[in-house]
Amino acid sequence: MKKIPLLDLRRNFEEIEDEVLKGIKDVFTSMKVLNGPNLQAFEKEWAEYLGVKYAFGCSCGTSALLMALISLGIEKEDEVLVQANGFIADLEAIYFAGAKPVFLEVDPKTFGPDLEDLKRKITPKSKALLLIHMYGHPCEMDEIVEICEKYGLILIEDASHAHGAEYKGKKVGTFGKIGCFSCGPVKNLNAIGDAGVMVTNDEKIAYKLKYLRVHGQVQKNYSYFPGFNSRLDEIQAVILRAKLKTLDAKNEKRREIAKYYTEKLSQIPELSPPPIDPPYKKSVYHRYMIRTSKRDKLAEFLKKKGIGIGYYYPIPLHKQKAYLEFFSKPYELPVAEKLAQELLAIPLYPELHQDEIEYILESIFEFFQKNY
Ligand SMILES: Cc1ncc(COP(=O)(O)O)c(C=O)c1O
Repeated sequence: MKKIPLLDLRRNFEEIEDEVLKGIKDVFTSMKVLNGPNLQAFEKEWAEYLGVKYAFGCSCGTSALLMALISLGIEKEDEVLVQANGFIADLEAIYFAGAKPVFLEVDPKTFGPDLEDLKRKITPKSKALLLIHMYGHPCEMDEIVEICEKYGLILIEDASHAHGAEYKGKKVGTFGKIGCFSCGPVKNLNAIGDAGVMVTNDEKIAYKLKYLRVHGQVQKNYSYFPGFNSRLDEIQAVILRAKLKTLDAKNEKRREIAKYYTEKLSQIPELSPPPIDPPYKKSVYHRYMIRTSKRDKLAEFLKKKGIGIGYYYPIPLHKQKAYLEFFSKPYELPVAEKLAQELLAIPLYPELHQDEIEYILESIFEFFQKNY
């Protein structure tokens, strides 16, 4: 029996190992371990790659989101709209900023927010939309930007799943006031450990973001505003710089594998493959999510076949126990709830071999043919 993990980090890092080890050696030699040349170079390279003015590395995607909300002055009583299928970090950021989350139904065609529900839920207290490009699929940006402009909502993008994804030739994460990226170990642009980055075109916001991550200390020992310790260290910056060089090629490979999967899996009536890109979008398939009402049985079957699977995410944000008391009302969001029960990630990464892809497909076909 084959063993195919959901993600193989060993393979993922193999080809940059020499470059990374040399970079790490240089860090040891220079002993510039924080705010050194690699952080500064990574920030410049990432900003250039995205086509934005400013990028600031930080310790992880969760702190990027929190610092984004704080830098925008979002606070108590402000409502932040967020799709219910996001990751818990999106809710944590709203909670710790002291704002109120307003959960949005999900559009299963994009995995982004349902735009009619968004318009319905905007109130005079609505301050921002926290938009998540789930699984690497760009949201419908023309409509979203128009709604935000019309209703005066600040747009913040969580592009943690979508490094390099494009909407009409523009990279996601660059449409809003701030774009946040996790660069944790399983992401498309990944460090070997926790890492994150925030981007903006706004000079004043850039000033805030730059210093929020270092205790608000614009000058050493002088905190100009309350801040955190949330830095991206030199070793992770070395790795991200090496990884960035191959990001586009790796994303292209992901799209190729996704296309092949989708061609084959579309033949199974009881299964829906993820959305296919219209010509104006380029998804980056951080996760390849299939949908079936037999999700749990299929997951068990694939595990027995040695195939790694993942649930992303089985409990929608509006059902997360730790936060229920803090919501202004209980939510019923049937699409988000159904997706949470039916979505399953199967292995998709650029280093997958063709025989592994075939084995995964054969196993899925076998499950449905045997009619479990
Ligand atoms: C959509 C999304 N946002 C934010 C985060 C948080 O990032 P981190 O783990 O780097 O804090 C994650 C992490 O998986 C994520 O998937």
